[in-house]
Amino acid sequence: MTLKVKLLGLAAESTQYPRHFLPEFAFIGRSNVGKSSLLNLLVGQKNIARVSKIPGKTRVLHFYEIENRYCLVDMPGYGYAKRSQSEKKGYIQIIREYLQNRKNLVWLFTLIDSRFQPLVQDVDFLKQCIRWNVPLALVFTKIDKLSNYQRKKNLDLYLSFLKEFYEELPPIFVTSSVTREGREALLKFIETEAERYAAEVRNILKKQ
Ligand code: GTP
Ligand code: MG
Repeated sequence: MTLKVKLLGLAAESTQYPRHFLPEFAFIGRSNVGKSSLLNLLVGQKNIARVSKIPGKTRVLHFYEIENRYCLVDMPGYGYAKRSQSEKKGYIQIIREYLQNRKNLVWLFTLIDSRFQPLVQDVDFLKQCIRWNVPLALVFTKIDKLSNYQRKKNLDLYLSFLKEFYEELPPIFVTSSVTREGREALLKFIETEAERYAAEVRNILKKQ
């Protein structure tokens, strides 16, 4: 099923963010983890977000309005070693400003490559999100690259690791943009949460 998508705009800083009351769901993770591919998978279209074998493709925030109801935000990747110091600072600033200030951010999906054991950059980022009080969900990507055995082993290892610093585990999804696994579960979650957010906004407006 294809969703109706409208690119609302690109932004490097808050003055450029679209002005709306739609709930936002953002996608972040190391460069090349599959953020843009996941976005395309969710909307059911191949070329909405630019995908590349070369890390560092998405350089600013991309805001996509979906079905006039909610907004998906493709974020630049973190932890890409081949960037210059000043470039890295720029990305960190873009990410920090969005995560700390965006009032209508409902969930941040942090993507983790399911093939790897916990990596320092991911762990540092997850801990930062806890400090910033960001509503965090996790998505394990590229699951098609693992056998059933490896899949269970890697996920179990990751979950036991996460339990060391999460009192309660965040929502967790497993996806593949190749086999389309995980699309329905993730979409259902987003739609339910978008509806919950809209109901909250309606309630607040009614009381005013
Ligand atoms: P940046 O924008 O550079 O931060 O990268 P990104 O996280 O947006 O990754 P992108 O979607 O551009 O994908 C990076 C590479 O991984 C591309 O070659 C994709 O085809 C590949 N890829 C993404 N998702 C999957 C997946 O689920 N399975 C497999 N096998 N490959 C994937
Ligand atoms: Mg990208």
